[in-house]
Amino acid sequence: MSHKTTKPYQRALIGSLILGGSALAAQNAMAAEIAIACGAGDAADYCPIAAQEWAEKTGHSVQVVSTPNSATEKLSLYQQLLGSQSSDIDVLMVDIVWPGMLDDHLVDLSEYLPADATEGFFPALVDNNTVEGRLVAMPWFTDAGLLYYRKDLLEKYGHEVPETWRELTEIATEIQADEREAGNDDFWGYSFQGRAYEGLTCNALEWVASYGGGTIVDSEGEVTIDNPQAAAALDLAASWIGTIAPEGALNHTEEETRGIFQSGNALFLRNWPYVWSLANGEGSAVAGKIGMTALPHGPEGESKATLGGWNFSVSRYSEHPALAADLVAFITSREQQKAHAIQMGMNPTIEALYQDEEVLASNPSMSELYETLTNGVPRPATATGDAYARVSNAFFNRTHQVLSGELDGASAVQQLGRELERLGRRGW
Ligand code: GLC
Repeated sequence: MSHKTTKPYQRALIGSLILGGSALAAQNAMAAEIAIACGAGDAADYCPIAAQEWAEKTGHSVQVVSTPNSATEKLSLYQQLLGSQSSDIDVLMVDIVWPGMLDDHLVDLSEYLPADATEGFFPALVDNNTVEGRLVAMPWFTDAGLLYYRKDLLEKYGHEVPETWRELTEIATEIQADEREAGNDDFWGYSFQGRAYEGLTCNALEWVASYGGGTIVDSEGEVTIDNPQAAAALDLAASWIGTIAPEGALNHTEEETRGIFQSGNALFLRNWPYVWSLANGEGSAVAGKIGMTALPHGPEGESKATLGGWNFSVSRYSEHPALAADLVAFITSREQQKAHAIQMGMNPTIEALYQDEEVLASNPSMSELYETLTNGVPRPATATGDAYARVSNAFFNRTHQVLSGELDGASAVQQLGRELERLGRRGW
């Protein structure tokens, strides 16, 4: 802990008086304020709670910095801040696809944390966060795309949970018509994230991969998107807009789609695990009426869930890297991950917690989720490294054009293929 100027110290003291840990901090002239960027863009934000607990335990204080909901906008903000070497944020919540792009701006946590800091964590996540031998982020929670459905309505109309996207389309069409006839004019068959942002990359990768159309770029760095299965998957998704999904889906992120489903206005929803406890919670119109299962697949493929998840990193420009690393270790610790899983149903990154009785009792589907998580499909972030944001932007922009009827699937994947080849030639 060091204070090179008086300003951060004064800021720290004022911050700590306001934000708690105040008694300790007032006695401790060396107390610092750590600024942390929280939030994965959803309502299940446990990060400020955990950060505050750390402040109370250590006598330091935390300043929670709010960031945009959309992962794509959050990344731009980070890139601006880090690009200008700003010390305004010490700890950053980092998406699973970002370590390869932000690593130059992040400290090697192994220099601050004990040698066994990553023991018990899923090795694949630790690998994901280790760039050129440097541990640039600690895994916090893991995510996978899921299908939520209205159990009561499937029963009412005598349908099983759909196994293919085609079946989902048919069932959604039928039940939407029946529910509207019964008086709910706002009812939709399917709600998903169709805005031009990272969330659409996640949805569209699930469509394409579950059609047997590959993963955009394969693990060797070869561009694979230009194929008929990928085109067919995108065309089917385009047919949903204005039929079983509202036009507004073209601008929806996770939270808008949860809103539609949770207010009782959608039969099916694609979203992440965080929705389960909220949609079953107080004030939800669908509490107790819903199920959660693997996403459908294409005619020849199998179900694929895009892997997501969030990590914590320390900025290289932090004035308190050791303290910031301590906060990261605290939030990602077993105890905090357990509380996060029990209170908000989030999926831990520590393997043993999937066998923890209290975690399982709070969320019986946690063991089922484990299967989905271990079979999930990663976005091509490792293969494309620094270029990942450009690859994802090209993919979600072209996909968005297909959804809005500007391009057909075949032309979109052909153009994308060429665009990505060009990007790849510059090296990734
Ligand atoms: C979720 C996922 C994250 C993904 C984002 C897209 O937060 O955990 O990995 O990038 O959704 O919206």
